[in-house]
Order: sequence, then structure tokens, then C-alpha cells
Amino acid sequence: MWQKKIFLFFVIISTVSLLLHQGGNIKSFHFGCRAVPRGPRSKITSVVFLKTHKTASSTMQNLLFRFAERHNLTVALPVPACGHQFCYPRTFTSHFVHPHTLPPNIITNHMRFNKAELQRLMPTNTTYITIMREPSSMFESLFVYYSQYCQSFKRVANVSLEAFLDNPWRYYRAEEKDSMYARNTLTFDLGGDKDRPATDEAYAKSFTAQVEQRFSLVMISEYFDESLILLRHLLNWDLEDIVYFKLNMRTESSKQSLNPQLSAKIRAWNSVDAHLFDHFNASLWRQLSALGLDCVAREVQLLRQAQEKLMRTCFAGQTPLRSAAQIKNKDLRPWQPNGKVDIVGYELPSNISVGAWTPPDVCLKLIMPEIQYTKVLLRSQSIRYRRSYQYRAHLPQKAVRTVVVRHPQIHRIEPKPAVVPAPVTKTTSSPKTSGTQSQSAMQEPH
Ligand SMILES: *[C@@H]1O[C@H](CO)[C@@H](O)[C@H](O)[C@H]1NC(C)=O
Ligand SMILES: *[C@@H]1O[C@H](CO)[C@@H](O)[C@H](O)[C@H]1NC(C)=O
Ligand SMILES: *[C@@H]1O[C@H](CO)[C@@H](O)[C@H](O)[C@H]1NC(C)=O
Ligand SMILES: *[C@@H]1O[C@H](CO)[C@@H](O)[C@H](O)[C@H]1NC(C)=O
Ligand SMILES: *[C@@H]1O[C@H](CO)[C@@H](O)[C@H](O)[C@H]1NC(C)=O
Repeated sequence: MWQKKIFLFFVIISTVSLLLHQGGNIKSFHFGCRAVPRGPRSKITSVVFLKTHKTASSTMQNLLFRFAERHNLTVALPVPACGHQFCYPRTFTSHFVHPHTLPPNIITNHMRFNKAELQRLMPTNTTYITIMREPSSMFESLFVYYSQYCQSFKRVANVSLEAFLDNPWRYYRAEEKDSMYARNTLTFDLGGDKDRPATDEAYAKSFTAQVEQRFSLVMISEYFDESLILLRHLLNWDLEDIVYFKLNMRTESSKQSLNPQLSAKIRAWNSVDAHLFDHFNASLWRQLSALGLDCVAREVQLLRQAQEKLMRTCFAGQTPLRSAAQIKNKDLRPWQPNGKVDIVGYELPSNISVGAWTPPDVCLKLIMPEIQYTKVLLRSQSIRYRRSYQYRAHLPQKAVRTVVVRHPQIHRIEPKPAVVPAPVTKTTSSPKTSGTQSQSAMQEPH
């Protein structure tokens, strides 16, 4: 009898340990955090991701594009006149959305946030997400990336961040084109006023409260994987939905290290951004603690194992990262802001053997830069749109009316407007934006 019990005991122990050690296996993922019950168990598929600048948001955008493709969802994409962004830095309006990408489930290309317009465009129960980064490293990144592009930075001798911060007012013009890259960029992207003085704490507080009220999750770049675990729980997604390869990174040699004095100056100059970051970093850690730091760590580990496995499948053990000039496939070449910054990308080995479990273009899509992916998606969605349009044309009139147009206000626009319609709202920050300027802005992904 006792032998039977001991045998049973060993069977149970070995089964449990077997399950626990199946690292990247998706089935074992529930050994991570116990999901908080939140109504329907199906995946949430209506998502606004406000893509902010220099915050690892390209990696998130790629993740969302792939999620949309796998689940046959529609991603709202910009009309051609807007480039691959929604006519940033102009405030978003639904006129910027390509009619073939309506009605959307997901929207993620760069825009300046406009709550009312997005509410009109997106399904009512849409989840809003964004991402922030520690303000001094974010500003250093903006400074290097836009040093040849943004007037406020171009004035600085020897591209010296120190010189700029010693006296920002000497170089910065609030009203100038592209000034949003030179002060409180995050606040600007979120639709706020980048030029509030540091003394106006009431503004920083009330703006932060507004953001908190609208966004269900604010991710933090420094804790990207942990943020993804929160995202997965919020949206009821699987492990495979949050797997990614890092995109749009600089080489280490293009980065400048910051001393505490410099960081303090950056925070003072970008005081609204600093307020936002501190608030949402604290809130991220409260949410992680609520989920349980141990189980978050376990899920992060499973995620990284799954990623390593995919890296091996996709790159056959070769080092995939290289600078843009070395990438032969132009569909995989990331956009380069200027000669001083080296943005690295990936190249697939030509002799790649794609594993049986991965459809052929999984690896390709994981490393496709945003400009190219936006084009690919627009093409495939346009084909789908035309097909369903032909299908609807054969239906009786009554049925057509119920199937078509969720957003009548947008369907009035022609597919390829010659000029972008005038913006609905205007702020003081960029009064001179014109069609030609948004054309030039479109060359530029971040
Ligand atoms: C969101 O709303 C749509 C339609 O309004 C519905 O089909 C979908 O199930 C809802 N999703 C959730 C997660 O509530
Ligand atoms: C997506 O659409 C394709 C083709 O219409 C279909 O084969 C596939 O099952 C769909 N996938 C999902 C997840 O709905
Ligand atoms: C810029 O660099 C040059 C050469 O390194 C140096 O001579 C000059 O003084 C620098 N200018 C400023 C304003 O720092
Ligand atoms: C974010 O918050 C955590 C917890 O309070 C803290 O330990 C960490 O230093 C903060 N991160 C940054 C980049 O400020
Ligand atoms: C692919 O080619 C590289 C070198 O060109 C080689 O090291 C690697 O083993 C090859 N992989 C396969 C799967 O043939």
C-alpha cells in the first residue's frame, strides 16, 4: 500500500516539475500570474496606443500590427498626404484616417492625441494605452535624433547638449516648426501644453489627472517587459501576443551618458514631462505589486525564453543586428535621422529555415521597420476593403445600410485627397504648419 502511495507521490512531483520547467511553452503560461477575473475572457481587441517619441514605442507598434494581422483586425492608418504618421504634429482628426482602414479596431501610428476625435472614431469600449520614458534619457535621445532636424537644436554649437541646457532660451522658440521635440515632447504628444512654466504645478497635476483618467495603462520603457505583462493581463492576451524584437535602437556609441547635474537640468526644462513620468512610474509599480512581483518576474522570464527561441528560429544562430547601411533588403532598413546617429536594424539570413510552427513571414514582420510595415498593412487592408465593398454591392440595399459605415463623417473623404483638410483644433505651439511641412514631417518616423 505504502509503495503505491510513494509511487503516486513521485508521479505528482515529476508532473508538476515537468510543467514548471517547460519554459517557453505557451500552455504553461498560466503558471505566471493568476489572471484577475475581469468580465469576458476573450481577448480585448479595441486598442488605442498613443505612440510617443523615443520611448520604445516602435517596438510596441510592431507588436500591435502583428496582433492585428493575426486576428484579422483593422488598423486605422493615415491617408497618403499624412505620410506614415497622422499628420503629426497637427492635432489628430479622423480626417487623417484612410477610408480603407475603417472602422478600426486598433490605432497606433504617431499622432498628437485628441480624445474627442478618437472617441468618435473608435468602438466605445476601446482600451487606451501609452508609454513613457525617464525624461532625461528621453531628452538626450530626442536631442541626438533631431539634432539636424529641429531648429532649436540646430542652433547649438557642436551639437552640445550641455550648451543647450545651460541656456535653453537662447536656442528654443516655442512657436517654431518642430519645437515640440525640444521641450515637454511627451506632454505635447498627449495633447497638452508643452510651454507651461515649471512654476505652474497646478497645470502639471491636472494634466496628469486627465491622462490617468483616459489611459488604462501607461507603460514605462525602462520596465518594458514588466509593462507588457500588465498589458497582457489587462487585455487578456496570450504570451505569443506580446513577443517582440527590439526595434529602432541606436548603437551604444550614438548615446551620451548623463551626469546627475545634466539630468536635473533636463527635468527642470521638461518639468511637465518629469511630473508625468514620476506619477506613472509610481503607478506602474503599484500595479505590478498588486499583480505580485514574483509572478510578474516569472512571466517576464517566460517571455524572454520565448523570445530567445524565436531569435534562434529566425536568425539561425547568427548575430542579426547591424547598421542600416549593411542591410541589403531595403524593406528591413530602418530610417536614419542623420549622419551622427546609427540606428540598427535586422537582416534575415538568406538561408533561413523557418520552423514548422511559424508561418513564413513571422520573422520578417517581427523586424520590419514602421514605415515599411505601415505600407504593407495599408496594401493588405485596401485589398480586403475592396473585396468586402464588392461583396456589399451585391447585397440588397437594406442590408448594405446596416453593414457599411460606422463613421459616416469619415466616409465623405476621397481615398486620396490632394491636400490634407484643415485641422479642427489649433494650438499656439505650431501655428504655421502647412501641407508642405507635414510632407517633410512624414519623412521622419519618430
Ligand atoms: C466591445 O464592444 C463591441 C461592440 O460594441 C463588442 O462586440 C465587444 O464584444 C466588446 N468587447 C468587450 C471586451 O467588451
Ligand atoms: C482570418 O481570415 C482568414 C481569411 O479570411 C481566415 O482563414 C482565418 O481563420 C481568420 N483568422 C481569425 C483569427 O479570425
Ligand atoms: C566646437 O568645437 C571646436 C573644435 O572641437 C572648438 O574649437 C570650439 O571651441 C567648440 N565650440 C564651442 C562653442 O564649444
Ligand atoms: C520607478 O519607480 C520605482 C519604484 O518606486 C523606482 O525604484 C525607480 O527608481 C523608478 N524608476 C525611474 C527610472 O525613476
Ligand atoms: C547559413 O549560412 C551561414 C553562413 O553563411 C552558416 O553559418 C549557417 O550554418 C547556415 N545555416 C543553415 C541553416 O544552413
